[in-house]
Amino acid sequence: MSEPTIEDYYVEDRTFAPPADFAASALCCDQSLWDEANADFEAFWARQARELVTWSKDFHTTLEWDLPNAKWFVGGQLNISENCLDRHIAAGKGDRVAYHWEGEPGDTRTITYAELHEEVCKFANVLKGLGLKKGDRIAIYMPMIPELAITMLACTRIGVAHSVIFGGFSPDAIVDRCVDAEARAIVTADAGFRRGAPSALKVNVDTALDDNKAPSVEHVVVVNRCDTDVTMAEGRDIWWHEAMAEASADCAPEPMDSEDLLYLLYTSGTTAKPKGIMHTTGGYLTQVAFTHKYVFDLQPDTDVYWCAADIGWVTGHSYIVYGPLTNGCTSVMYEGTPDTPARDRLWDIAERYGVTQLYTAPTAIRTFMKWGHEEVAKHDLSKLRVLGTVGEPINPEAWMWYHEHIGGGNTPIVDTWWQTETGGHMISPLPGASTTKPGSANGAIPGVFAELVDDNGNVVTEGGGYLTIAKPWPSMLRGIWGDPERFHETYWSRFPGRYFAGDGAKIDNGGYLWVLGRVDDVMNISGHRISTAEVESALVDHQAVAEAAVVGATDDTTGQAIVGYVILRGTHEASDELGEEIRQHVATKLGAIARPRAVVLVPDLPKTRSGKIMRRLLRDVAEGRVLGDTTTLADESVVEEIKTRAAASDED
Ligand code: PRX
Repeated sequence: MSEPTIEDYYVEDRTFAPPADFAASALCCDQSLWDEANADFEAFWARQARELVTWSKDFHTTLEWDLPNAKWFVGGQLNISENCLDRHIAAGKGDRVAYHWEGEPGDTRTITYAELHEEVCKFANVLKGLGLKKGDRIAIYMPMIPELAITMLACTRIGVAHSVIFGGFSPDAIVDRCVDAEARAIVTADAGFRRGAPSALKVNVDTALDDNKAPSVEHVVVVNRCDTDVTMAEGRDIWWHEAMAEASADCAPEPMDSEDLLYLLYTSGTTAKPKGIMHTTGGYLTQVAFTHKYVFDLQPDTDVYWCAADIGWVTGHSYIVYGPLTNGCTSVMYEGTPDTPARDRLWDIAERYGVTQLYTAPTAIRTFMKWGHEEVAKHDLSKLRVLGTVGEPINPEAWMWYHEHIGGGNTPIVDTWWQTETGGHMISPLPGASTTKPGSANGAIPGVFAELVDDNGNVVTEGGGYLTIAKPWPSMLRGIWGDPERFHETYWSRFPGRYFAGDGAKIDNGGYLWVLGRVDDVMNISGHRISTAEVESALVDHQAVAEAAVVGATDDTTGQAIVGYVILRGTHEASDELGEEIRQHVATKLGAIARPRAVVLVPDLPKTRSGKIMRRLLRDVAEGRVLGDTTTLADESVVEEIKTRAAASDED
């Protein structure tokens, strides 16, 4: 993808200081945390680790840093489920609601910390009964139901690492992830409710496990969520409710080293093979607890916090499960889509539970804008105190709409930049301390050191550059599962001494950062990462496709949308039906989120004389722009033909 240019940078003069009454009672209302962290960032994080997390054995060294390998809180031991559950119960908060869960059909469940503890201990014993032990990995492929969080916490109780696979992914994605991680079990459900009907999951697990494609998987545990018909494989599959009925609620937490593996989460890189991002225990928990507390100005005794993401992505891991539970707060968890049964579903939920913090994505905000603020106005959202956004750059129009229509004009917005790899927030305002500008994520949080650099690695203090992180941070990824070389090469080689994960940004003369998006071949569709290479390999997997090139084209709602250009094999005739079949093929291979907005069947692809596909031109075509320089093309007539075909496919 092209690198950021000065034209991408908009000047934004509107500023929003924290409302005085908000700042007056905020956890942080000045620069003190930044000052402390800038003076000694290791001491700062050590203080957070000891204050926010309970250690069964204190650490002796805060950081061992041998680029790219970091060890945080060395010598320390802790158990995450104990931090999330037992210690709150011991402090007399067992009756506090951990989750107000709302199913899409309208069924609800209120789960206290004491109840969650009991379920977690029971399921940990179920896993133990299946022979799972510290150091093993399991996959989780579930809808947004409480059992998903219970499974994750049960893993942490006994030292099993989890790999959550987003419920929208395909059987092939399940196979790849289970094989790579050598997962010994999968926890799933028959289906989950989506848009008013059950959306099957177990059948995808069955397909994935057919023909011994994922031979490490010995067990499948199935939650009965929707009462749909499923086939249970004898000796392999068990029902959640049957296993839980017999399980003991007594399960001692396994002490884990600070650097023991907590989870793997697969994410798209620039190649067709997703990488298993590794997160470990002590540093991860410290940073997600710190950021959840300060970025959302958490008042756990009174707040009702809601992160409306899916636990299948890192946002849900850090800010639905681990951050909120470590901080002992009450959260809302919702199973379904925002338009079921009506377009005011989220606002109805927010009003009913008295939600105080809402965390969502720009793509969702743009959708709500399209639906009209009348949907919002039907509900009383006056309890909202902080609004968060994540996943992609937020355009100032969407920021202003969020501010005015959801926040009533006086609710701070925190635009949080981070990644699967960073584990927790990295760049964000703190709501009681930061003056914000619409569209800017402000600057690094206390204890994180973000800097822009130019092509040569020189620091840029005003203008455009590559977004890098100059010092290690506690929740940083510890590697790519099974591929240390790729870890070093991907993140640490481009700018020596710095972490670089592919974003371009601008910094203005006030020090405000504006993240512009990826500068590599990774697309951002509705805040979800998909690589062009992944979609290209799914396209060429179709028997009619000879060659394919994929670009992410700007889209008003989803940020970017996938457009595929495809050359057909010899005898195949281009037709609308075939284009549609190829689009569907990608959805089947990768999951519905990767279904291209358009597949354009073309006679040839624009290539340089050295044979490189000119994606820039294809993106220009997809976005309907006047084409730039085409003189390096081997055959200029190709582009005219592609433009004609693309225009025809847009009209369809
Ligand atoms: O390009 C950035 C964009 O999302 C990428 C990370 O994607 P993922 O690992 O899936 O994690 C998403 C949720 C943390 C980044 O490289 N991104 C994320 N947050 C922002 C953002 N871009 C601009 N502003 C943000 N607030």
